[in-house]
Amino acid sequence: MGQNLILNMNDKGFTVVAYNRTTSKVDSFLANEAKGTKVQGAHSIQELCAKLKTPRKIVLLVKAGPAVDSFIDQLIPYLEAGDIIIDGGNSHYPDSIRRTAELESKGFLFVGSGVSGGEEGARYGPSLMPGGSPAAWPHIKPIFQAAAAQVEGEPCCDWVGETGAGHYVKMVHNGIEYGDMQLIAEAYDILKRGLGLPESEIADIFLTWNKGVLDSFLIDITANILKFNDDDGQPMVTKILDAAGQKGTGKWTAIAALDAGMPVTLIGEAVFARCLSSIKAERVRASKVISGPQKEEFKGDKKQFIDDLEQALYASKIISYAQGFMLMRETAKEQKWNLNYAGIARMWRGGCIIKSVFLGDITSAYTKTSDLESLLFDDFFNKAVHKAQPGWRRIIAQAVLWGIPTPAFSTALAFFDGYRSEVVPANILQAQRDYFGAHTFRVVPGKENAKLKAGEDIHINWTGRGGNVSASTYSA
Ligand code: 6PG
Repeated sequence: MGQNLILNMNDKGFTVVAYNRTTSKVDSFLANEAKGTKVQGAHSIQELCAKLKTPRKIVLLVKAGPAVDSFIDQLIPYLEAGDIIIDGGNSHYPDSIRRTAELESKGFLFVGSGVSGGEEGARYGPSLMPGGSPAAWPHIKPIFQAAAAQVEGEPCCDWVGETGAGHYVKMVHNGIEYGDMQLIAEAYDILKRGLGLPESEIADIFLTWNKGVLDSFLIDITANILKFNDDDGQPMVTKILDAAGQKGTGKWTAIAALDAGMPVTLIGEAVFARCLSSIKAERVRASKVISGPQKEEFKGDKKQFIDDLEQALYASKIISYAQGFMLMRETAKEQKWNLNYAGIARMWRGGCIIKSVFLGDITSAYTKTSDLESLLFDDFFNKAVHKAQPGWRRIIAQAVLWGIPTPAFSTALAFFDGYRSEVVPANILQAQRDYFGAHTFRVVPGKENAKLKAGEDIHINWTGRGGNVSASTYSA
């Protein structure tokens, strides 16, 4: 990825110095991929820093965690005030908050930048999400915006915000990526195990969807994956072990959502679906002793079913992004980041793993209303989700009858039904909490009486055996 980003920046007219602690890699890069370019090499950190113009702009692409701190420590002796260290790895945003403060206190500038798009994105235009020390932005803006993917003449890169905002937004991007991937996997499962379609036909369905509202990189690559056969003519995917890996950025998003008290359920389910997949041996044992419904052949209208599935995927995706943006809004409040949501959607329209036409619609929604409470309040998405609703419900109902798990589709619909409910059964939870632990409750305005007052924390003695003293309130 680092080599590709260097070549990309070189193409845009910038002179880049390449450094790797395994110096033979630098030599090999200069002799091969970078041959004939203006790229220079360095065999030591000292040489790297000596070759750079001030303020130095140093991009680190190393494994998230202690490796970043160790690299920064090695750089510092060779830097001058005002130099800029840019961490382009998948760092956890609290680390970027800390690094911004530490480096600024030493007179340097720090940028934690999300970089998405994999190796190809790095070479031909990634989505770049920089945040950190605002004073660094004017220096790196021309380079970053030139290297980034361009959509309709606009770069998929803009300043995200202070301290850890860039890495935070990249983390949410990755969480959404987990959700999109899980939704596609569930659609595949329904088509394969439910309708009994072969991979080649499923690929054709995905290719058709890729011309409509689901037009996206992930649908496109999944169609290509499904068409890819091994030497014996069997679809390669049928040979891949069904145990998903993960590096943790989806988990970070889910944890951040729990910490912020935001119902980002789809990303959570997507992470758990990977966890369930990875306990393969246990699932194999369970499959021998726990049976589900008898497999019944689908007798309905296949075309209608496939259209419903497209709508179910679309509606669930709308919910997932609505949840992701809710999370960013809440954290922005807490961290005092002034996030530009239209700008974030614009950065994600191209270059990154979740790039899609859909993100253009999100850009429009936030351009129209910058403080939009939820995507579901936007006319376009409100209409889309209403239109999708009947098919979405039919798909989940059928999957339940078949015994095919749809954690992401189902949680999206459950969120939708909860979100649009003026009344949810939390009154029961509150009563239970007060009954067993004197945790208090509040009354619905209009239901007050002499003892029950709206706005007051009330405890009642439900059994006559409990006391009248209520517990204090705290968050663990
Ligand atoms: C990107 C990706 C990338 C991520 C991989 C692997 O935006 O280019 O998000 O940063 O590391 O997709 O993630 P998992 O191993 O957790 O699936």
